[in-house]
Amino acid sequence: MAKVSLQDIKRIYGNVTAIENITFDVPDGEFWVLVGPSGCGKSTILRTIAGLETATSGKLYIDDQLVNDIPARQRDIAMVFQNYALYPHMSVAENLAFGLKMRQADRATINRRIQEVARSLNIEHLLKRKPKQLSGGQQQRVALGRAIAREPKVFLLDEPLSNLDAQLRDDTRAELKQLQNRVAITTIYVTHDQVEAMTLADRIVVLKDGRIQQIGTPQDIYQHPANRMVATFLGSPPMNILPVIYTDGKFIANKQVIPIPPQLQQQLQPTSGEHFDLGIRPEHITINNSETTSDLQPSLKIQIITIEPLGKEILVKGKLPESNTAIDVFADANWSGKPGDYLKVTLDSNQLYIFEPESGKRKV
Ligand SMILES: Nc1ncnc2c1ncn2[C@@H]1O[C@H](COP(=O)(O)OP(=O)(O)OP(=O)(O)O)[C@@H](O)[C@H]1O
Ligand SMILES: [Mg+2]
Repeated sequence: MAKVSLQDIKRIYGNVTAIENITFDVPDGEFWVLVGPSGCGKSTILRTIAGLETATSGKLYIDDQLVNDIPARQRDIAMVFQNYALYPHMSVAENLAFGLKMRQADRATINRRIQEVARSLNIEHLLKRKPKQLSGGQQQRVALGRAIAREPKVFLLDEPLSNLDAQLRDDTRAELKQLQNRVAITTIYVTHDQVEAMTLADRIVVLKDGRIQQIGTPQDIYQHPANRMVATFLGSPPMNILPVIYTDGKFIANKQVIPIPPQLQQQLQPTSGEHFDLGIRPEHITINNSETTSDLQPSLKIQIITIEPLGKEILVKGKLPESNTAIDVFADANWSGKPGDYLKVTLDSNQLYIFEPESGKRKV
């Protein structure tokens, strides 16, 4: 077990800066998730920790030891790659045993570990097969098992569930989380899937364009996003963003007036004519059932574009009339409406976020 520290890590390829200013400390035994859109530098960070890439600058420590110049095989790190590869000529059992054999574990230990890992990943019945006799999902579980089997100091996983179908993905995700809780191996996990990040992580690192946007617990990041990118990346459907202009104690969103709650007014101290991006999550918007609404709760008229029944509720995708500003809201499972209709919705005034339009930085 180990802690992993990155200090100001940077990696440049030719004239592409893949990552920069990457600084974080993963405490011993924690499960961290790096999340962000394609090309944001997730794999580069992981490969640098593994020792498969060399940082252009910055320092990398494992358990307080500077490891920049220590070769990958001496770092005692197991990594499951985005494009994992099993040894095709070996059976599943031999694949699982490989790392342990390399470390000269005795036969009894190897057999015990193979059984444990195979059981926890539900691949016991596949131990005698060769990789080409497995489905993509089964292969991926074997790749995970191979890395887990040798109980490394640090476990690095790059999109390890991406080849699994939805059900298997949910199951494997839950197993992985249980397994990590049990063995408490320091784990850094890469994904572009925000649901995976939210459900697995002790802490999430949100990345964009090679830079860290925010580090925090899933709850923290969801409730207190540092900027518009983080706010709209985590959460499904994402936070709604409405461009607004401030005048006379009110926001104007495409000709519609949104009264500003006094507390927000006080925190924001806006000046007349100032532009903002107003953020509100779909779950904090309700569809008005009665015509009478209080003036204190900000409300909006929206036009329905599409309706997506999700079973326990309905996702209504709409927009501000005569604009391209999208707004998603949830309706009860028994709600009925149709595309083209207009809806009046109320915004929960305690759940408004305000972003600076250019930088995207959160102001309130
Ligand atoms: N060997 C390389 N040579 C040149 N550029 C590279 C190299 N490897 C990565 N990059 C660039 O560095 C950036 C980060 O790549 P990286 O693979 O880390 O992204 P990622 O977040 O893992 O993306 P994905 O989700 O698509 O896997 C990208 O712009 C990529 O094109
Ligand atoms: Mg990648």
